[in-house]
Amino acid sequence: MQQPNAYIGTPQNRVDGRAKVTGGAKYAAEFEAPDLAFGIVVSSAIAKGRIKSIDTSAALAVPGVLQVFTHENRPRTAWLDRNFRDETAPPGSPFRPLYDDKVIYSGQPVALVVAEEFELAAHAASLVRVEYETEPHMTDLDLKRSEAYVPPKKRSGVKPPPSPRGDAEGVFAQAPVKVHAEYRVAIEHHNPMETHASTVVYEDDGTLTIHDKTQGAQNSQSYVASVFGLSSSQVRVVSPYIGGAFGSGLRPQYQLFLAVMAALELKRSVRVVLTRDQMFTFGFRPLTIQTISLGANPDGKLLSIMHDATQTTSTFEDYQEVVVNWSNLLYHCDNVKLTYKLAQVDTYTPTDMRAPGAALGVAAIETAMDELAYATGIDPVELRLRNYAEMDEADKKSFTSKELRACYQLGAERFGWEKRNPEPRSMRDGRELVGWGMASGVWEAIMQKTAARAVLTQDGNLEVASATMDIGTGTYTILTQIAAETLGLPMTSVATKIGDSSLPKSPVQGGSWTAASAGSAVQNACLSVREQIFKYARQMESSPLANASIEQVTFAEGRIHLTNDPSASVTFAEAMQAGGVERIEAEEKASPGMLTSMRYSGYSHSAVFAEVKVDEELGVIRVTRIVTAVAAGTILNPKTARSQILGGVVFGLGMALEEESMLDHNLGRFMNHNLAEYHVPVNADVYDIDVIFVSEHEEMLNPLGIKGLGEIGVVGTAAAIGNAIFHATGKRIREYPITIDKLL
Ligand code: MOS
Repeated sequence: MQQPNAYIGTPQNRVDGRAKVTGGAKYAAEFEAPDLAFGIVVSSAIAKGRIKSIDTSAALAVPGVLQVFTHENRPRTAWLDRNFRDETAPPGSPFRPLYDDKVIYSGQPVALVVAEEFELAAHAASLVRVEYETEPHMTDLDLKRSEAYVPPKKRSGVKPPPSPRGDAEGVFAQAPVKVHAEYRVAIEHHNPMETHASTVVYEDDGTLTIHDKTQGAQNSQSYVASVFGLSSSQVRVVSPYIGGAFGSGLRPQYQLFLAVMAALELKRSVRVVLTRDQMFTFGFRPLTIQTISLGANPDGKLLSIMHDATQTTSTFEDYQEVVVNWSNLLYHCDNVKLTYKLAQVDTYTPTDMRAPGAALGVAAIETAMDELAYATGIDPVELRLRNYAEMDEADKKSFTSKELRACYQLGAERFGWEKRNPEPRSMRDGRELVGWGMASGVWEAIMQKTAARAVLTQDGNLEVASATMDIGTGTYTILTQIAAETLGLPMTSVATKIGDSSLPKSPVQGGSWTAASAGSAVQNACLSVREQIFKYARQMESSPLANASIEQVTFAEGRIHLTNDPSASVTFAEAMQAGGVERIEAEEKASPGMLTSMRYSGYSHSAVFAEVKVDEELGVIRVTRIVTAVAAGTILNPKTARSQILGGVVFGLGMALEEESMLDHNLGRFMNHNLAEYHVPVNADVYDIDVIFVSEHEEMLNPLGIKGLGEIGVVGTAAAIGNAIFHATGKRIREYPITIDKLL
């Protein structure tokens, strides 16, 4: 394809920016419907036991209340397919709202009050009286740790730890330098701006159009169809805009079930919106306790790596993520033992949260590597270079591309790392201690089978469509760029349609795979349109392109011309008229290459450098500067890409210093279920963040060389900040978030 790089790789504004800032972009709870009714969820007050009785009479007596749904009157049509597991479900039996009288976690929905008005429903919900019979619950991982087990069934898409290699234990015992410690990262809840909501529009013919807050319109569609015994043609999910999700929208959440159930039963449109409090009543990043043992020579060369992680899961599903594999993926070592276990507690099942597994595992290994740097007296960057993994040693594969070395180098230069005095407590700025720390980041470059359609019309407009999503990541914009560039049209002539289950098949948006997957599918569909229109152009009477091959022509500004002779050209409209077609349509798929994945490993990488200033008397930590250098193949749009990394880094800052969901083990309940007590970074916490995209030539994973950017920004950031705090204060805190109480 000989095209000038008109759009790919250039900074472009979001094509949906105007709609978003003017209120034109509609979110799940903003769609209207005639006779819309409103549902409010009543949440369980206990963590475990059963509902002895549930008195809904006072609620039902409120004028305007339409129904109160509980396990006692739940329509029988629900749960036709009892074992239905959504696209992203871990092994086990998914939670079924209002299924029976059992309570299996605190905050579980126990009733849905539906009324003519939102306020009426909220008032009536406060009148529902539930009597419980409690059973002892257990939410404390420390007390369940001894019962941790290796999950018997592996979760699809999640790699279990590789088999041990060499003699990690024996070599560690003899190693001249040792680091051995336990690391913890607290439970975190996703707190996107948009809370979870579903507006179910009950159409006159009994079909449903659903506006759901989801990362996968088709995932929600097939969930609803399976659970309620409907055909997929009876359910359409339309979710054009999502106000952030971070993984919380990967699985259909209970408000979707409840809204659909009420709509089908009442035969009218229903909206259910969860409150901010109720955002703490489903998935979260699980509490993870990790132990790392590093054995090394005095020159810093790793002799042995042992990394163990124990995570919580629920009593009904084995939630799994990749926590420990990263240690050997980042560092060369011959003696490696990586282990991963789960322990069941009485909470809801954890859910993927931005860079699931890696955000946790890399936080631990990169803190341990900093400890090794101090134990050996070697500079942290130099230590990583000495142990650089040239290949994926566990899978014995080469990397498709890996510019991590350049990340270290360019990041260190931009940060001014060479001016660092390695001695803890050696740098000051007035009354504040100054610390500089660094860490590596890594995330898998994944591609998933995705389809897209392209339709070119004689007026020179192109529409591209796929059921993929834009959760705020910039999908609309990059797909528009790819389509415009492939067909040589201005971006303003391209309309991108996504977020609708009726469009060509796509997996959920997640895993940072959307740009590579939907982007390649859109490119393929546009390439197919190119071929067709070129055929018409050649077949025209006395066509100046009659003898040309597609390699010899350029598509630009709505025309096809000989690359060597731009005056020999045919407009798209001329070619289509000559061919007697009003429109050219193509649907194509893109899939990961089997051969590539058998022989190569694809990952994105980063090097994160952080500066902190610590007020020693107050223990207040400010992250005054972060430089992150990212190598992630082709950067389609440096402007939106930078935003992705900024968001990821701020997420990492939250993990490092603030975010923590606190369980009261007596109640088995998250106590700080609001944004006043669950702290996320705000503008005042964020200072200078500098994003560098390191040039990386990637040609194996997909023709455009895309690796994805949604998650790499968070990975490594917490460790870089923690390491900077050690450098500033001389205190090694191994439990994230590093709050004032731990530092003082
Ligand atoms: Mo991401 S946790 O795959 O939405």
